[in-house]
Amino acid sequence: MYVELKSINKNFSNFKASDNVSFSIKKGQLIGLLGPSGSGKTTILRMIAGLEVPDSGDIYINGKLVNNIPASKRGIGFVFQSYALFRYMSVFDNIAFGLKVQKKDSLYIKDRVNELIKLTGLSGLEKRRPHQLSGGQKQRVAFARALAPSPHLLLLDEPFAAIDAKVRKELRSWLKETISKVGITSIFVTHDQDEAVEVADEIIITNKGRIEQVGTPSEIYKNPLTPFAAEFIGESFTIDDYWKINGFDKAEGFKSAVLRPEFVHVSLPEQEVYPHASQRGVVEEVSFRGNAFELLININGTRLASRYPLDNKAINKGDEVSVLIKRLFLLGDNNVLKVENNLFKDQAIFFI
Ligand SMILES: Nc1ncnc2c1ncn2[C@@H]1O[C@H](COP(=O)(O)OP(=O)(O)OP(=O)(O)O)[C@@H](O)[C@H]1O
Ligand SMILES: [Mg+2]
Repeated sequence: MYVELKSINKNFSNFKASDNVSFSIKKGQLIGLLGPSGSGKTTILRMIAGLEVPDSGDIYINGKLVNNIPASKRGIGFVFQSYALFRYMSVFDNIAFGLKVQKKDSLYIKDRVNELIKLTGLSGLEKRRPHQLSGGQKQRVAFARALAPSPHLLLLDEPFAAIDAKVRKELRSWLKETISKVGITSIFVTHDQDEAVEVADEIIITNKGRIEQVGTPSEIYKNPLTPFAAEFIGESFTIDDYWKINGFDKAEGFKSAVLRPEFVHVSLPEQEVYPHASQRGVVEEVSFRGNAFELLININGTRLASRYPLDNKAINKGDEVSVLIKRLFLLGDNNVLKVENNLFKDQAIFFI
């Protein structure tokens, strides 16, 4: 393991910013640290970088205990949440900064900075100051500056936060490509799950200073292990009285359930395929979502959301529909149970 955190605790006065945090990262991976605002993501990055000291616990980098090694000696590149470029320095000097601190000779600095300017697509902008750059360009300068001293670990705190949606999407794939080209182990923080899913090899989910789950995006999506992970990842919709739905029984210790759009199949009553496992509901809202409609459906007082294909026969508010729920994630106090519709299962076997 390249980076290992073991039982890290960190308090700010009475506030627990890190609560027994443990995880490990393999060399060469791009890791997404994903969680809501205030869940402790920046605190974790700062402790790895040596900018913050844990109250207890150990941090290992490349097999070495780094607790007592100062930030400047850890060989880590850091891209800050707000870029933190030096306002009065040119792009070139910003990127050269770490190399000058290391007292590299000027010929080496020139070559290295030019190499990074090429890598990050900043050619022609060398002499500009930060205020003469777009958000995306600033982000690239911050990235190049962090990479310049050839760190062996790169930490990026919300690298896309200040950038508008379209450029952000382009930058995401650019960052993923560039990091894999450079081959550097990286951890980036985000509170945007689409970003984490698209960019990261593995995701670490944080909540209230704790780690909720670690896994590949698809593992976490398919098998969330905690109620928080089930509700936070994907488009999820939580319902309370799930046992009123045809095909599901009340399970001891599980008080509510999460639905994903793909767990629900909506059809017009005359097109109903599995009447035995379905039930009738009334459409309360129809919203256009670009690639599908989203329906809000009321089934005997239980409301749920579902997709409805654009090319199907039109559906309107007040229409009766047939709803088949194929699967649910039941939420316990601290665990999740994936259950299938038992009537649908039987029926499927019967038809086969
Ligand atoms: N130096 C500090 N002094 C006091 N409290 C702090 C300090 N740094 C962080 N905190 C608190 O610790 C908690 C976690 O903060 P942190 O910055 O790690 O969250 P985050 O997940 O990065 O949030 P965001 O997505 O908003 O950046 C917050 O409640 C914050 O107010
Ligand atoms: Mg933060």
